Amino acid sequence: MVLSIAKTVVMARDRIVGPGSGGEEEERYNYALRPLKFAQYVGQQSLIRKLKIAVDAARGRKEPVDHVLLHGPPGLGKTTLAHVVANEVGAQVHVTNGPALTKPADLVGILTKLGRGDVLFIDEIHRLSAVIEEYLYPAMEDFKVDVTLDQGAHARVMTIPVQPFTLIGATTRLGLLTGPMRGRFGISEHIEFYSPEALHEILVANAVLLKLVAEETALWELARRSRGTPRVANRLLRRVRDFAAVEGNGKVTLPITKSALELAAIDEKGLDDQDRTFLRTMIEVYEGGPVGIEAVAATMGEERDTLEDVIEPYLLQNAFVTRTRQGRRATKLAYEHLGMKYRPSNDRLDTGLFEPGAEVK
Ligand SMILES: Nc1ncnc2c1ncn2[C@@H]1O[C@H](COP(=O)(O)OP(=O)(O)O)[C@@H](O)[C@H]1O
Ligand SMILES: [Mg+2]
Repeated sequence: MVLSIAKTVVMARDRIVGPGSGGEEEERYNYALRPLKFAQYVGQQSLIRKLKIAVDAARGRKEPVDHVLLHGPPGLGKTTLAHVVANEVGAQVHVTNGPALTKPADLVGILTKLGRGDVLFIDEIHRLSAVIEEYLYPAMEDFKVDVTLDQGAHARVMTIPVQPFTLIGATTRLGLLTGPMRGRFGISEHIEFYSPEALHEILVANAVLLKLVAEETALWELARRSRGTPRVANRLLRRVRDFAAVEGNGKVTLPITKSALELAAIDEKGLDDQDRTFLRTMIEVYEGGPVGIEAVAATMGEERDTLEDVIEPYLLQNAFVTRTRQGRRATKLAYEHLGMKYRPSNDRLDTGLFEPGAEVK
């Protein structure tokens, strides 16, 4: 399979449990561990079942697979899945992302290069500009694109056919996607956090790929402390491998794993410094909430988007934080986890009776 990489923006992240991409070297490492077929893709059973049906149906009709929208937190396998779908149908993948497509010509250039049945993967699709979206709609629906030639009085519109293709869009923010865009996907699915069992399965497979000697208990420890995220599991496995090589005899043992995690300040629940700072800010500065995300972001000196896309989903999923109409609240579990005494700031809020019409921030 040939990969045609149009433009990719690699975001650097130094946070070890951060599910964001960690730079070029890590991308290479992840690439080597990336499942290529449905059979190797662990977890997300219901989504995989739907995609298999779509792929089989498309093969039968000799048509491209329906357009697919994948949404969910970073590091859960959206990009991987786009490649898996392409591999399963034996098509090429063309990779780009929302912010990279600044001019219509960028998009037209990619669309006209597509072969029949190819997959066009647009990451961060919620960041496409309105103009580009307008160009994309006829391509998605009727496999054609209208280009304007010349300008002013000589302007002409030319319709260029596009080979039938499958658009796979990925986003961490479904809410920021426009209605018309969402409506044009035949399949729209949320990617869930992984269970420790699923992460363990991924770690076992990757330990084999990396030719690591690893204790079963060590891999379970990593599975439980990877924030439900395969990218984090892979990153921690690499950390532990390096730690084992330097501090031990190369074998990934439970004590080596625990030391490596401790060094990275990852606690038993898989939370890192940034997660704990988020919870501590809510508790110490805002008395456990309710507090708006903007306020927490300002206090932490973080981007609101980072808090909402990267930090909060896992804390919400694991009930460290709840969202009420008045804002976010730290739960009893959050206090206990930080070793703090639970003091609900406002007992009335615990009844669950909220004032109607209050703003959700
Ligand atoms: N279901 C899965 N099974 C095995 N490995 C996975 C799975 N999902 C993700 N991974 C691993 O995690 C890494 C990050 O996944 P990626 O597709 O880049 O996430 P996203 O695009 O959602 O941010 C991949 O390189 C792959 O090694
Ligand atoms: Mg991705």
